[in-house]
Amino acid sequence: MSNNSDIEVDPKVLANDDEDYESAGYNTSTQSLSSSINAFVFENGRRYHVYYGAEKNLLPNDETEQDRLDMHHEMMLLLLGGSLHKAPLNNPQKILDVGTGTGVWAIDMADRYPSAWVTGSDLSPIQPNWVPPNCNFEVDDAEKDWTHAEDTFDYVHARNLAQSITDWPKLTSEMFRCTKPGGYIELAELGCELYSDDGTLAPDNAFKRSYDLVNAEALPRIGRHGARLERMAAFLKMAGCVDITTSTYKQPYGLWPRDPRQKQIGAIAMLAMETGIEAYVMAAATRIMGMEAEEAQKLCAEAWKSCKNKNHHVYTNFYVVYGKKPMD
Ligand SMILES: C[S@@+](CC[C@H](N)C(=O)[O-])C[C@H]1O[C@@H](n2cnc3c(N)ncnc32)[C@H](O)[C@@H]1O
Repeated sequence: MSNNSDIEVDPKVLANDDEDYESAGYNTSTQSLSSSINAFVFENGRRYHVYYGAEKNLLPNDETEQDRLDMHHEMMLLLLGGSLHKAPLNNPQKILDVGTGTGVWAIDMADRYPSAWVTGSDLSPIQPNWVPPNCNFEVDDAEKDWTHAEDTFDYVHARNLAQSITDWPKLTSEMFRCTKPGGYIELAELGCELYSDDGTLAPDNAFKRSYDLVNAEALPRIGRHGARLERMAAFLKMAGCVDITTSTYKQPYGLWPRDPRQKQIGAIAMLAMETGIEAYVMAAATRIMGMEAEEAQKLCAEAWKSCKNKNHHVYTNFYVVYGKKPMD
């Protein structure tokens, strides 16, 4: 159910350059800097996880980020019309969510498939304690050799890990090894580029500059890449998957779409970006690009202003790719 037609603009949204959307109420500059948990490091008012090195995960893992991930989850559910996955699952018994974040997808899957056992794994132990009885969480580095046995899972899922993973062929080959024959692997990622159908995204748009700084400049310097549909499909093919199916969904930023569902998606996406721009940009800009924090913060502020501009009818793509492990 991919949808690539142009997103129609709602004429009721005021065409006024000076009037931005209202603030969502976050104030990230007032995050607490105190913690006794020495696995975490604090930078520019945000908390990051240190595991095998501060570069491992460039995104923060504090409560602000956890709120953003949960909002993002709701938005991706809307994008998929309420579905948690695209693979045609048939009574799955063992499910793995790699890089589970707050575990919200894994918890929803456990509720949706009560006869399955759902495991979420992540570098950061930021998942809740109260979870469905058929769900558990593990702290694990997905880029290391997996301890799971071969042919364990009916379904292995990974969402929005593009910025975090250096060796995708190794990760997808571990996903493939641990999937049962006949089981499915699914990758879901928000793309690394911004678009507009009506030319309202100028080349010097600050939101676009922030995207490009992270995806076109910083990530390649550390051997990582923003998500692209062809690469995702190629990784599954390289791992050995068959029947690979791809879908692309437009994810607008802002309330400008006329269609109510797209408007809601755009509203949540923008709300998430109020803290998301800083989450994606700060570590990449300062640690990798060597920018001063003030310069990076200035870019984030400009990017947020552009993101809120009602006349910028901007969207990115959400990609979902799944493939099957053959029976023999
Ligand atoms: C953008 S969040 C996505 C979270 C979740 N998949 C979702 O869609 O809501 C990326 C997550 O990947 C985790 N992560 C990054 N590198 C990882 C690794 N090498 N192994 C396991 N988890 C990792 C981070 O800790 C973070 O929780």
